[in-house]
Amino acid sequence: MSTRKSGASLTVRPLTPSVGAEISGVDLAEDLSEDVFQQIYDAFLRYVVLVFRDQDIPPERQVAFGRCFGEPQLHVLNQFHDSEHPELYLLSNLDENGEPSGAHPDPGTVYWHTDGSWTKRRTIATMLYAIEAPRKGGETHVANMYEAYQSLDEPMRRRVDPLVAVHSLNFSRQRRDPTPLTEDQLRQVPPVEHAIVRRHPDTGRPAIYLGDHAESVVGMDYDEGRVLVDELNETIIRPEFEYRHQWKPRELIVWDNRCSLHRSSPYDTATERRVVRRLTVLDAEPGS
Ligand code: SIN
Repeated sequence: MSTRKSGASLTVRPLTPSVGAEISGVDLAEDLSEDVFQQIYDAFLRYVVLVFRDQDIPPERQVAFGRCFGEPQLHVLNQFHDSEHPELYLLSNLDENGEPSGAHPDPGTVYWHTDGSWTKRRTIATMLYAIEAPRKGGETHVANMYEAYQSLDEPMRRRVDPLVAVHSLNFSRQRRDPTPLTEDQLRQVPPVEHAIVRRHPDTGRPAIYLGDHAESVVGMDYDEGRVLVDELNETIIRPEFEYRHQWKPRELIVWDNRCSLHRSSPYDTATERRVVRRLTVLDAEPGS
């Protein structure tokens, strides 16, 4: 086992008033001491999304960094798995000759969502590492859902506080992606229920937990629930709650799925190159 250690002089620089911080002074390809990881995790809780620049992270080291947060998810969409490290989900618009294919690898990612809300055992964090980055577009946007909850007026808060939403990967895929789930994948992702207002297990703060996988509201007429989910999904996104990351190769960002929504912005998939590795970390417990 490696004994290399990194992060003695870690610094945290906030990126916007509401969300996001850049961390420097740490090499994520090295083993992190408990103390250094704790500093990173504290910043993660405080700033919701962290940015690390100029990192050379081979696949196995990205998996190792993911394991500092918890157990990596093996995503049900196994067509995206890295062949040697199935914990890594490859988002690439390049074809088998290494040229831009003109197709988006995962069109659902351009809609605001939180990873894994379609599973009973939700997720803590997602990290993306950029191998190639487009010159224009293909940004990753992360929105702070604590602030979104605080921005609701009192009657709306009282209305949503007790509500539970149904989340379904099949629902969001059918709307956003021409590739249907296979029978086997469908069997693994039955619809699940989660409270719309979620108390973060570490900070205790309430946050909205919705996004594009949310389909309907338990105990409410289906169409009425759809209208409410759409309305909330629209009102909770505001520029002042967002961090927008314009990628450069060798950057890694990691965000807290329990209190944020994210999306990627479109890019020209026929002329630009975008190759990122994603790793998502599972929550310890099934959620309510
Ligand atoms: C994702 O939605 O998990 C990926 C976002 C991105 O590609 O920027």
